Amino acid sequence: MPTVLVTGGAGFIGSNFVRHLLATDPTVAVVNFDALTYAGNLANLADLAGHPRYTFIKGDVTDRDHVRAALQRGVTDIIHFAAESHVDRSIQDSGPFVRTNVIGTQILLDAAREFKVNKYVQVSTDEVYGSLGATGFFTEETPLHPNSPYSASKAGADLLVQAYQHTFGLPAVITRCSNNYGPYQFPEKLIPLFVTNLLNDIPVPVYGDGQQVRDWIHVLDHCRGVEAAWRNGRPGEVYNFGGRCEMPNLELTKLLIRLLGKPESLIRYVEDRLGHDRRYAIDCAKAERELGWAPQVSFDAGLAETIAWYQTNAAWVATIKNKDYMSYYEKQYGSKL
Ligand code: NAD
Ligand code: TYD
Repeated sequence: MPTVLVTGGAGFIGSNFVRHLLATDPTVAVVNFDALTYAGNLANLADLAGHPRYTFIKGDVTDRDHVRAALQRGVTDIIHFAAESHVDRSIQDSGPFVRTNVIGTQILLDAAREFKVNKYVQVSTDEVYGSLGATGFFTEETPLHPNSPYSASKAGADLLVQAYQHTFGLPAVITRCSNNYGPYQFPEKLIPLFVTNLLNDIPVPVYGDGQQVRDWIHVLDHCRGVEAAWRNGRPGEVYNFGGRCEMPNLELTKLLIRLLGKPESLIRYVEDRLGHDRRYAIDCAKAERELGWAPQVSFDAGLAETIAWYQTNAAWVATIKNKDYMSYYEKQYGSKL
């Protein structure tokens, strides 16, 4: 039985991935290795309690001994989601980003070599490519040009993965995806932050002129892409995933306001993010061609379902919006709202 070590499986994308994999493949076992930082939450996988093919280990990817012990449980493959993932937090303090995203990846790569895993998947981001002007797309050939401490740490990790593949023949693939949305996303990122604020008539902070463009993809489409890269990706290759759904932030903000039946007076234009990337857009033709993958969830349907999820899961949101979250929120937005 393939036994996949999924790191960061208690976070947003990781938890959706673990649930997806266990539900769609009865022959696979999952070991979820997660440090349960502010972003990790076992409630995201409460429905898997007692599942016979699921094991949870509370562990930090920067802890070499603990990672090695986890791999000794018959792990055959590694899919590495664990990361510090929020750009604004990386601007406040880049230390945890370098530790987890760079050192943590190096430790996992060493373990992957030692235990001779069949496949190692590095879950990366389109942000490593930097920022686009009004036209063009990121392809897998686009040079890395990360602009934020977050994307720099993810690019550093990607380079290590490529070096281990080249030097040691580690069977590794890298995936780079655009902005995800969907259930269980921590409400510091744009869509869940704005939805949960608007549901409570709290103003929403639009950075700068709001004309920055992001490409939105439903988290399950990303999960299907990571799964395809794990099963069929060629070692040494990079695969981009995107939703073919570009939208300026202000247009998205107004759409959310309309869908929730709230007034536009809840918009607050606040100081721009430092070094804010202007536009991301992904060319995912390679994944379509080589992996037979394509995004399936339309933005209209996915967004409606996501809003409904946050409406019916107010108790989940309430546990997230704890003291730690509020102190981050206060530091980030303070009196601006
Ligand atoms: P998240 O912040 O929701 O979850 C991260 C998870 O990693 C949490 O469960 C956390 O506890 C865990 N973690 C953090 N540090 C750890 C450590 N040192 N050891 C073990 N576990 C640790 O992040 P997400 O949005 O689910 O992103 C998952 C991955 O996908 C990241 O690698 C991210 O860079 C990448 N990605 C995210 C997006 C997006 O839109 N969210 C897009 C492309 C790529
Ligand atoms: P975010 O969800 O943080 O993802 P990323 O920075 O990784 O793309 O932000 C998405 C976009 O929304 C980005 O252009 C920054 C912007 N944004 C705001 O305007 N206000 C906010 O409060 C947040 C969190 C993001």
